[in-house]
Amino acid sequence: MSSSEKLQLWGGRFQSGPSATFEAFSGSLHFDKRLVDCDIRGSQAFARALERVGILTAEERAQLVSAFDEMRVEAKEPAFYEGATDEDVHTLVIRRLKGKVAGLADKIHTGRSRNEQVSLDTRLWLRETIDETRALLREFLKELLDLANRHADAVIPGYTHMRRAQPVLWAHYCLAYFEMFLRDDERLAQARARVNLCPLGSGALAGSGFPFDREAIARDLGFDGITRNSMDVSGDRDWALDYLYATSTLMLHLSRLAEDWILYSSDEFGWLELGDGVTSGSSLMPQKKNPDSLELIRGKSGRVFGSLTSLYVTVKGTPMTYNRDMQEDKEPLFIAADQCNGSLAMIAEVAKTTVLKPEAPAEAAEVSWAVATDVAEALARAGTPFHQAHKLAGKLVLYSLQNGMKPADWSAKDLADFSPEFRPEMAALMNPKEGMKSRQVPGGTAPEQVRQALAAAAERLAALQS
Ligand code: ARG
Repeated sequence: MSSSEKLQLWGGRFQSGPSATFEAFSGSLHFDKRLVDCDIRGSQAFARALERVGILTAEERAQLVSAFDEMRVEAKEPAFYEGATDEDVHTLVIRRLKGKVAGLADKIHTGRSRNEQVSLDTRLWLRETIDETRALLREFLKELLDLANRHADAVIPGYTHMRRAQPVLWAHYCLAYFEMFLRDDERLAQARARVNLCPLGSGALAGSGFPFDREAIARDLGFDGITRNSMDVSGDRDWALDYLYATSTLMLHLSRLAEDWILYSSDEFGWLELGDGVTSGSSLMPQKKNPDSLELIRGKSGRVFGSLTSLYVTVKGTPMTYNRDMQEDKEPLFIAADQCNGSLAMIAEVAKTTVLKPEAPAEAAEVSWAVATDVAEALARAGTPFHQAHKLAGKLVLYSLQNGMKPADWSAKDLADFSPEFRPEMAALMNPKEGMKSRQVPGGTAPEQVRQALAAAAERLAALQS
């Protein structure tokens, strides 16, 4: 098709067409074709709305709807896009419609602007994408809980400043991430609620000049309600930013988990054995088993944060209402969705195939002085003021380090000889499993608390699924 016969939705007031440079620069079909199914469904609902306001007869509406039905099937094939040089997906769909129902297609855009249409299409797409992200997140959380439950009694040293701090249960550690990811799910649900409002009827910016029943269009397309201001629809993208923020925070959590497991599966830690299926080897060094899946999750998080930043900057300086800058909202959304959904599927497989070797973290907790806080707190419980108890436990650690002693080397008698404030029962605290039992507060790592938290987590996950 030569440029002069090409379908344009706006050519009337121009004496000459767009330059080739401008066309190539401004076209968005190569990425917004991903919205094609949403564009068609939205147009079907719009045809029904046009019937209700008397622009289309029932027969015309039926003709259009069935032409669109055909198009939905055709749009799944690459041939639908072959040679297409349309400005955007909306133009492509109308051109294809003209090929099917020539004269009638000229009525489909009555009282509609691409400004609201692009908001509609993107909202429809995003609503479905959020559901996919949430479903993948739930799959992963199931695997994470399984991994916690497979080693429910295992003890690891918890870290602060990347130094062994206090003993905790492996399950408690896994549940910490469970909490973070459950908040991510909440954020996605909140983003969905703001996305799931129907903008149709807003026109270009001022509201449509046709008396559409906007609530009826919203119901038709499965929206929870309608947007409240036509200028807001045309000019704002904060609902897209909500998704980018929610996925960024989700990727932040995935990236930190990936970093942990890269470390924990290293020779230096030796806690985790990652499945062969999620690791790769070296072309040169035959012994290598590299955690590439986790490294890529960590790496891809950067692209998602970049998408959030990119859309913030895109929207920041734009005057009310629509500006063409806004076309730049879609690629960040697509990148974030692809990278986030891909990372969730990957981490679920990693969690499923990861094995904890509990002896290694147990030993790390035992040989270090991770029990020192338990000792200080036991002294305080027995009446020694905490600052003095802290100092005494510190002296015990220093003496032990100077003399190459581990906690387990201390008997009740040796402790009493070291200081009379050590009671015989305190010797038991040299085993990390013992002091842990005192952390009985809700949210603590006492085994009883963790057992309850695991059960509650399974219930919370099941509640999300229903
Ligand atoms: N491709 C455009 C976008 O994504 C569609 C809206 C075009 N509107 C306009 N006034 N040029 O934003």
